[in-house]
Amino acid sequence: MTVSLSINSISAHYGKTAVLQDLSLSVAAGELVSLLGSSGCGKTTTLRLVAGFLQPTSGTIKLGDRDLTTLPAHARDIGLVFQNYALFPHLTVLENVAFGLKQRSMPTRERLAKAGAMLERVGLSGLGDRLPGALSGGQKQRVALARALVIEPPLLMFDEPLSNLDAKLRVDMRVEIRQLQRANGTTSLYVTHDQEEAFSISDRVAIMNAGRIMQLDTPETLYRKPANSFVARFVGFENLLPLRVVERESAVVIAEAAGGARITLSQKDFGPIPDSCILGCRADGLSVRREGNGLPAVLGTRTYLGRAYQYQCDTAAGAIVANGPLSEPMTAGSSAVLVPVPEQCCILEPEG
Ligand SMILES: Nc1ncnc2c1ncn2[C@@H]1O[C@H](COP(=O)(O)OP(=O)(O)OP(=O)(O)O)[C@@H](O)[C@H]1O
Ligand SMILES: [Mg+2]
Repeated sequence: MTVSLSINSISAHYGKTAVLQDLSLSVAAGELVSLLGSSGCGKTTTLRLVAGFLQPTSGTIKLGDRDLTTLPAHARDIGLVFQNYALFPHLTVLENVAFGLKQRSMPTRERLAKAGAMLERVGLSGLGDRLPGALSGGQKQRVALARALVIEPPLLMFDEPLSNLDAKLRVDMRVEIRQLQRANGTTSLYVTHDQEEAFSISDRVAIMNAGRIMQLDTPETLYRKPANSFVARFVGFENLLPLRVVERESAVVIAEAAGGARITLSQKDFGPIPDSCILGCRADGLSVRREGNGLPAVLGTRTYLGRAYQYQCDTAAGAIVANGPLSEPMTAGSSAVLVPVPEQCCILEPEG
């Protein structure tokens, strides 16, 4: 059975401090959504609310048609995988995996058979008789994963499950988690502060900041079309250039940057351009040319990137980083213009 999760306008406080404010999020049936954000932004708190370890001060949480908001944690039927594994040290690996089935009163033979089959699926057959203390970190995390999956929960939640593993194992395990999650079609909420991990494992990613979701979208959309300056910075847009529209003629707009330089932009390329906006891009969104419709700049340090040269540029609107063609290397100190490459740029609302 696959069901959707919907979190509707929840707020949460620790004592008097507000941690989440009016947060809404839905995860479709069978979908994996990640919460991504810096330390302290409220990712774990969101999971704790869904798991029932913390009560929201307002809002509701539903799993399919079931309202979870006031249910005790043990009645919510959610599979949890944590960073620190949380295995029972005195139970064998097999008993750890079978634990949730025992709680659900499954007969011994059936439950050990099921736990054994799950151990095999996570690549641990043969280790069932060991105690968790005799396992490596990666093996422990596989046991934790098997234990969460074996109860076939309608919802799986992961809180930084890979952060205690080394880099190679992290990549292997995230592929395995994704395969198992897909094969079972289990609706999942996954927490990480690692952008690469979130983007590679998720159908959609919610980028969080200070208790709010700044954007919830597919990795491709977040990477190419961030909805605001916060997300743009988060996904690596080096250039955020405030602009003020000074002239409009049908779809063509002339906009002025700080310091007075003007550039022409077409709404055919960018969609509607508000009077006050930000042109956001990575270095490849501004092309360094000797002349053209662009922002005048004086070139600084040049770096060879293999596919292009990258220049630190000085403009009247501040420092900008832009790429230029390999066919035309330019020297530090030369004058150039920085021409927007529309498909690599976004028009964003002004900040604040
Ligand atoms: N038990 C608690 N009592 C008081 N404040 C808390 C408690 N737990 C968390 N907080 C605060 O709530 C905010 C959100 O914490 P949360 O654990 O949800 O962050 P996080 O996004 O999971 O961060 P991290 O990436 O470091 O795990 C933080 O400012 C944190 O200090
Ligand atoms: Mg956390």
